[in-house]
Amino acid sequence: GRVAVLMGGCSAEREVSLRSGNAVLDSLLRSGVNAFGLDLGEQALTQLMAEKIDRAFIALHGRGGEDGSIQGALEWLRIPYTGSDVMASALGMDKFKCKQVWQGLDLPTPASSLLNPTSDPDELVAKLGLPLMVKPAHEGSSIGMSKVVSVEQLSAAYKEASRYDTRILAERFVSGPEFTVSIVDGQALPVIGLKTSHDFYDFNAKYQATDTEYLLPCGLTASEEQALQVLALEAYHAVGCESWGRVDIMVDENKQSWLLEVNTSPGMTDHSLVPQAAAHVGISFDQLVLKILATANL
Ligand code: DAL
Ligand code: MG
Repeated sequence: GRVAVLMGGCSAEREVSLRSGNAVLDSLLRSGVNAFGLDLGEQALTQLMAEKIDRAFIALHGRGGEDGSIQGALEWLRIPYTGSDVMASALGMDKFKCKQVWQGLDLPTPASSLLNPTSDPDELVAKLGLPLMVKPAHEGSSIGMSKVVSVEQLSAAYKEASRYDTRILAERFVSGPEFTVSIVDGQALPVIGLKTSHDFYDFNAKYQATDTEYLLPCGLTASEEQALQVLALEAYHAVGCESWGRVDIMVDENKQSWLLEVNTSPGMTDHSLVPQAAAHVGISFDQLVLKILATANL
């Protein structure tokens, strides 16, 4: 059948998605799959209906592509797709709602609050402490995120996040290190540790910096690594994720783990984490792409 690699889209992560999508497309073509790329614009539904598509590989990131909307369209069109369903995609895309689900199951995630223009900064700091991370609820790749170390910095951070979203959250800052757990077809891959000279693992550290270190093996003991994999799988299933995804976790100085978020359409660029984790257990990029494609269903 004919496989469409859905990429681009209209979110702030458009450029990252084009890189993910083209990497996936090249790989499928290398494997002899009848694949083509579809850069989705504002008329995404019309574009999907104009093509004969037997299966879709979703390489979209962020709003519109990772949040359940395109998944809903594909359901209506009866096109099997990779990744999570509508509900899990929507939950995964909303960092605040996702944390509420985890909290409801007593899974550890840093305390947070939604912000609005009239939030009292002193009250917020009294509740969550400092430093804080201020984030748009629905963005990925650390877009619009700031670390706030004093009450005075809060309004600038709020303003920056507001450029991308109307839902903004403040989250208690957990000093790293950060780890990420890739999950493919129900299986947790080796944990990757992230080391950055930046304040946190921000957009530049993710896609531009050459001094970002990916620790693989991650530097934890085998039992600590296994505990992170178990936690990641719990967090992933709590949200209802399927097919594949990636869970980001901080481990603080007391070795306590804190769930940050689940990515339901993780990056597949040459800097990306899931391909690195897969390679570590002998799964090539091409094998990984085929493995993910095989999970496409309705
Ligand atoms: N949001 C980016 C693409 C990631 O999580 O990999
Ligand atoms: Mg993300």
